[in-house]
Amino acid sequence: MVSPISTAFLVLAAAVAPSHAAIAAWWTGIGPQIILQNATTGAIRHSPCNAFGVPTYSHTSSHELPLSQEPKKGTALAGAGWWDEKTTTASIFYTTENNQIINALLECDMQTGLFNSKGSYVVSQQNFPVHSNTSLAVLLLGDADGYRVYYHDDKQRVNEIGYTQETDWHHRKIITPDSQGWPAVGAFRANTPANISVVSVHDTQNLMVMRNAADEAWYLSTFPRPLSNNFSTSEADPTSISLNQTVLTNFTMPAWDGKPSALGLTIDSSFTRFVWYIGTDKALHQIQSKSFVWTVKDSQASDIWPVADSANAELAVAADQRSSMVRLYYFVDGRVTEVKYENNSWKPFKALAEPKAVTTDTPAPVPTSSGTAPTDTPAAATAGLSTGAKAGIAVGVILGVVGLVAVGVILFLARRRKQAAAASDPAAAVLGPAEVSAPPYGPPPPTSSPGHEQYLWEKKQYPPPAHAVHQLDSVHRPMEMEAAPRPMYELPDQTRSHELVGDARPMRHQAP
Ligand SMILES: *[C@@H]1O[C@H](CO)[C@@H](O)[C@H](O)[C@H]1NC(C)=O
Ligand SMILES: *[C@@H]1O[C@H](CO)[C@@H](O)[C@H](O)[C@H]1NC(C)=O
Ligand SMILES: *[C@@H]1O[C@H](CO)[C@@H](O)[C@H](O)[C@H]1NC(C)=O
Ligand SMILES: *[C@@H]1O[C@H](CO)[C@@H](O)[C@H](O)[C@H]1NC(C)=O
Ligand SMILES: *[C@@H]1O[C@H](CO)[C@@H](O)[C@H](O)[C@H]1NC(C)=O
Ligand SMILES: *[C@@H]1O[C@H](CO)[C@@H](O)[C@H](O)[C@H]1NC(C)=O
Ligand SMILES: *[C@@H]1O[C@H](CO)[C@@H](O)[C@H](O)[C@H]1NC(C)=O
Repeated sequence: MVSPISTAFLVLAAAVAPSHAAIAAWWTGIGPQIILQNATTGAIRHSPCNAFGVPTYSHTSSHELPLSQEPKKGTALAGAGWWDEKTTTASIFYTTENNQIINALLECDMQTGLFNSKGSYVVSQQNFPVHSNTSLAVLLLGDADGYRVYYHDDKQRVNEIGYTQETDWHHRKIITPDSQGWPAVGAFRANTPANISVVSVHDTQNLMVMRNAADEAWYLSTFPRPLSNNFSTSEADPTSISLNQTVLTNFTMPAWDGKPSALGLTIDSSFTRFVWYIGTDKALHQIQSKSFVWTVKDSQASDIWPVADSANAELAVAADQRSSMVRLYYFVDGRVTEVKYENNSWKPFKALAEPKAVTTDTPAPVPTSSGTAPTDTPAAATAGLSTGAKAGIAVGVILGVVGLVAVGVILFLARRRKQAAAASDPAAAVLGPAEVSAPPYGPPPPTSSPGHEQYLWEKKQYPPPAHAVHQLDSVHRPMEMEAAPRPMYELPDQTRSHELVGDARPMRHQAP
């Protein structure tokens, strides 16, 4: 299967520790989804996507993602996904040998726990080159605000690309004007539309945090040592960004050489931000920011936080802000291991168990819409229909009533042909106007966030931006569960070949 030459290359490649996370994890609403690249085969394997609450993982099973564009060995990996009351969808991001960022959309077959491909898209743009060792972070903001993806460019600056229904994939901004010391990035957003924090390795002693405000400027800060100017933004001249060498710092980063394989960032229900990494001592570390003051959190005992297999090891984090739940995944004794914070306390760690053999005749239990699910399903999953589910149902109804299923299938097939053409011709796959169809993104399931008014962003008073910036996000749509379906799901838009609904939904209706 693997030629001797490529085997030799693989051994070499595996010997060099990649500087980015080859594990990714996210919370779907019903459970965590884990994907990881096998450094030997290059294949990306996943935890069965029909699991509720308790993930399983096999290092040898057939659970490999069906990807039309091959990921490079040691790819960056990031993903996001949701549950729509019927199935889970995964939207994953990875890099290819020629350093393009690819988005693959995958839908779960709830009977087998395997993913089916729903499309593959190049989302990076040629004039903003991607660093060959970049890591990736993705945020799913909601049906109106779409996706944001963070990566390092060839000058090691953090870049943001985005997707909305209106704009398709586009480069948004270079959010750190100055070069970062190491291409590792983590991102999370509070459950309000644009309250995003992104963390990056600034230098061998400090991290940089970028946070987004409604005016589209990103506010920069560093820790443990702050920046000299009181306020630095993404618009600053890179030469004006420097550390304040006179201030007394409260701590130094523990077991930190500025070369982590991965950085995790999470925000809890009281809006405390946490940065996670595996240090040079192979241990998990947690730094927190409460009221803008960064401090080191105490480590947990080794039955809670086991020692990782290597220093600066790979790490993936799945979190749910509303319940403050955090799950971390890394290798312990050669097994993917889950470290869990749930119901406001740490639980003993567990290596992920082997999944049950894939069968096609015993359907996995699917919770009903009232939310009865197998044990260990978190409360969040039973909180009622998510926006995604509701919009999905609304879409289904609209489609059913007007009988657009056939049109949708035709559009889907047309788009597939276009995709196949794009995949076979790398030049054609470069994102450009109307060249690559927009992905058939289903609406993600953001939920309203009680208590978001306590959010601490505004505690720090920033001066108004020097110039008015066009505000893509100036009108934030409320993303409560009651949100009505967006006009995009209605008839006229469906005549556009790149619209999502006509593409994706009818396929689901056809499934047996
Ligand atoms: C990679 O794949 C090989 C061959 O299937 C397997 O033996 C090995 O355990 C896998 N490694 C991981 C980390 O999954
Ligand atoms: C990427 O990482 C490899 C292995 O650590 C290193 O040899 C290479 O120089 C890095 N590439 C860049 C552009 O920094
Ligand atoms: C962050 O959340 C607070 C509280 O909801 C809100 O006032 C503020 O506008 C939000 N900031 C952004 C950038 O959305
Ligand atoms: C550095 O920090 C100190 C203490 O907060 C402050 O007094 C000083 O103005 C800062 N220096 C610069 C250049 O910002
Ligand atoms: C930072 O802010 C303080 C208080 O507002 C001010 O005294 C100081 O001059 C500022 N420092 C810089 C470098 O702008
Ligand atoms: C150190 O901690 C104190 C409060 O404990 C805080 O006021 C101060 O800003 C912190 N200094 C730095 C450099 O973070
Ligand atoms: C968390 O709390 C819920 C509700 O009290 C409970 O059903 C669930 O089993 C708890 N989970 C864990 C891991 O303790």
